[in-house]
Amino acid sequence: LINHACDFMLFGARGDLAMRKLFPALYQLHRAGLLHPDTRLIGIARNDSTQEEFVDAVQATLKRYLKPAEFEAEVWDSFSRRLHYLKIEMTKSPDFKQITRFIEGSTNTLVNYLSTPPALFADICKNLHSAGAIAPSTRIIIEKPIGHDLESSQVINDTVAQYFNENQVYRIDHYLGKETVQNLIALRFANNLFGSQWNQNHIDHVQITVSETVGIEGRWGYYDQVGQMRDMVQNHVLQLLCMVAMDPPSQLTADGIRDEKLKVLRALRPITAENVARRAVRGQYTSGAVRGVACPGYKEEEGSSGRSNTETFVALRANIDNWRWAGVPFYIRAGKRMATRMAEIVIVYKNQPHYIFDPKQKSMVSNKLIIRLQPDEGIRLQVVTKEQSLDKGMALQSRGLNLNFSEGDEGRRTPDAYERLILEAMRGNQSLFVRRDEIEASWRWCDALIDAWDESGDQVKPYSAGSWGPIGSIALIERDGRSWHE
Ligand code: BG6
Repeated sequence: LINHACDFMLFGARGDLAMRKLFPALYQLHRAGLLHPDTRLIGIARNDSTQEEFVDAVQATLKRYLKPAEFEAEVWDSFSRRLHYLKIEMTKSPDFKQITRFIEGSTNTLVNYLSTPPALFADICKNLHSAGAIAPSTRIIIEKPIGHDLESSQVINDTVAQYFNENQVYRIDHYLGKETVQNLIALRFANNLFGSQWNQNHIDHVQITVSETVGIEGRWGYYDQVGQMRDMVQNHVLQLLCMVAMDPPSQLTADGIRDEKLKVLRALRPITAENVARRAVRGQYTSGAVRGVACPGYKEEEGSSGRSNTETFVALRANIDNWRWAGVPFYIRAGKRMATRMAEIVIVYKNQPHYIFDPKQKSMVSNKLIIRLQPDEGIRLQVVTKEQSLDKGMALQSRGLNLNFSEGDEGRRTPDAYERLILEAMRGNQSLFVRRDEIEASWRWCDALIDAWDESGDQVKPYSAGSWGPIGSIALIERDGRSWHE
């Protein structure tokens, strides 16, 4: 499984994502012996740093973001020898000659990671091309926001497509790199017990919750233009939905998986201005307390203009119009400044056709499969058993069969999503990356929903920071005689 030697060009190497996530991920891959000995890591930015200053900055970031025991002097020493720095102004074509000079004579695969604002993608691609740095084996990794809507995403994708074929493009959705999301494939397609019952005959409904305790983390300027629907639902949440809902691919290949995800996105029933009020709720947090710590409301956040109808919370009911999921709603919640940080998929099974136990205990009988992405990754199957006692007759209780991935074997750590994604890009495996048609299908559905909100003059509903979202999100599911899994 060891990958081919790469020249990993990290554009935007001094940026926040690179420092917080990408260098720590590269270090972990190196520490685990997963980087080819000849792989080189090239930081590219316009900062006037010297090579030495750059290496020092990487060292500082590793010390800050890794656990103390993970930063080992010997490992750092060999890791630092892979690091190089090129000062390049992304818009200046002549600067890219440095890249051509750097890779001259090397047979390494060139992997370009664009950790920059999308506004620079066009210049970077064009300049790489004019510098003669793009070979058929060259890859490009890009990350959201890939557009603001369908049209702008097409502009970005068209730009990249002028210089790279689709099989060279790796679009990151970091949720696809999370361990438990990967595990969904094994759970569904390696276990007949689940695989055979994964449909409308057995499943009543599905819930997907991604709740965060953080607010907008100082990003008001960005976030207020985007909102939760575009920031979280269009990408991460819909990708989770696809992983839950897709049909089994006939082969575990990148396009096998992506073809099936695409079919799900295309089968999503549009939400329209006529039904949006019943099917989707958007909220905005007001001041409150998250785990006992007081937090300002969204409109009081730093950088705020004091006025905004941007949502920080979305709840909706999605329907997938195909044979597998006819009549099975998917309830989705995603919000900031909520009661707890948690990402979870809950599969709620139908009840038995005829109930023979104490009527007072009826609410207990549905089986639930709870797939937890974070924190405490694991899968829990909720089953009903008899209470162990002599005097309670056939009293029932709900118990969990637990698979806890976070504890695992001693010393095992759950790799960060970026470690897996960078490694797979280096290996040339596109399975975990989002294909252009997926992104576009997802935008098409989200655009329609956002338009429906706008057309119907929908106003965001307030919810206190530290709560589970606006009341309307509870009504959304309770109207259907169901409730959110807590
Ligand atoms: C990012 C969003 O893509 O995902 C952030 O832009 C969000 O707003 C983050 O906080 C959540 O990622 P995770 O892995 O912490 O759940």
